[in-house]
Amino acid sequence: MHRVRLPETGTMDAWREAARALAAHDVPAQEVEWSVGAAAEGLFAADPLPQAPGRALSVPTAFLDLAGRAILHCDPAAPALLYQALLRLQAERAFLSDAADPLLRRLQSLEKSVHRDIHKMRAFVRFRELPGEGLRRRFAAWFEPEHRIVEANAGFFCRRFADMDWAIHTPRLSAIWQDGALTFAPGAPRPDLPDDAAEALWATYFANIFNPARIKLDSMRQHMPRKYWKNMPETGQIPAMLADAEARVERMRAAAATEAPMRAAAITDRYRAAMPQAPAVIGSLEDARAACQLCTRCDLCQNATQAVFGEGPPDARLMIVGEQPGDQEDLAGRPFVGPAGQVLNDAMEEAGIARERTWLTNAVKHFKFTPRGKRRLHQSPDAGEVQACQWWLGLERRFVQPQLSMALGGTAALALTGRKDAMTRRRGRVEETPEGPVLISWHPSYILRLPDHGRAAAARQELTEDLRLARKIIAA
Ligand code: URA
Repeated sequence: MHRVRLPETGTMDAWREAARALAAHDVPAQEVEWSVGAAAEGLFAADPLPQAPGRALSVPTAFLDLAGRAILHCDPAAPALLYQALLRLQAERAFLSDAADPLLRRLQSLEKSVHRDIHKMRAFVRFRELPGEGLRRRFAAWFEPEHRIVEANAGFFCRRFADMDWAIHTPRLSAIWQDGALTFAPGAPRPDLPDDAAEALWATYFANIFNPARIKLDSMRQHMPRKYWKNMPETGQIPAMLADAEARVERMRAAAATEAPMRAAAITDRYRAAMPQAPAVIGSLEDARAACQLCTRCDLCQNATQAVFGEGPPDARLMIVGEQPGDQEDLAGRPFVGPAGQVLNDAMEEAGIARERTWLTNAVKHFKFTPRGKRRLHQSPDAGEVQACQWWLGLERRFVQPQLSMALGGTAALALTGRKDAMTRRRGRVEETPEGPVLISWHPSYILRLPDHGRAAAARQELTEDLRLARKIIAA
């Protein structure tokens, strides 16, 4: 009698070596006792394995594939069944094609079960982070596979979690991946693993994707067999979720939106027909002006009366950009018609620039304000609102193609140059941008707000000088 003990790792190679030696000498299956794992690593035979070469054997690759999986099955009969199949194959080459053969069917069922276990391990291993100070994060998991699949599956985890150190402990074998090297250690009882912060998150996620209206218990059990539950943090919630499912569906039903009444469709149709339509393609300044009225790129459209698009001749050589429409501009639908507009008009006149030959616009097209009694107090737009509105300013620049743009104040300077630097250092200078030169100056509202009359007069003078410079630039 030959007794062959196969190791817990490298099981297939060892089986292959022993089976080849035995079959080459026609040792009958009943004269070999196979076992896997336990004490000794490596091969041990009561009667030594035949050493002489014996007769040559050949097996199809399909058999080696089948054996490579079936040998991992926990059924202690697996190595012996494979040896029987190997002997049969020498006499009956068609053995593997006989789907009704009981031995083949048994081996295929072992193989299928191993295959399934391999996939379940990939899906159900749950790592917990271990404390540590090294560069690599460390994780450990406890898993109870049905079969001897840890070695066969280790490559998958190495590829997937290559950048962390981890250990997967199982009752028969532990796989350890450290600093990019894989080793195996004997199995051990379940270790104490620390709680992991990610576990609560995972459980919450699981509870949220659980749909009580779609419970299919059979399919659930098939995909997540109960035997794996005990090592998965999220499964603790399943019984409670199942128990509450019916009531939860009722709650969902009660909270669901009611059907729209029949007349709602007619109202919606009428409403839609009366709504201005945005042009499908923006091919001109007038298209852009119409589309801008429907803009919802940011929340400012919700409270403003209307969008205030730029105005002026489409071939203006100078474009002046302010911050945003004020109270009066919002009502009139035109830029710079309030007090700030008055300051600008005066400065332009003094500098010899005709308003009607200039494109006047703003970085942001809707008025941003806070209501205070009957008044609406100006609020500066934030960077997100400026960015949302850049679409419209970009269209204006593209269609008008001014020789020079003039940014009045920090918001306009940001919108036109993308830079936020302090105005004191930038005022009076021309900055180059991919869309053309930008001259920076004071905003008229800033001048109006300066408490010091002398300082306000000086700033007004500086705005006028900047406008003169703009005139010179476009004349040149
Ligand atoms: N302030 C601006 O920036 N633009 C206007 O149109 C009015 C006031």
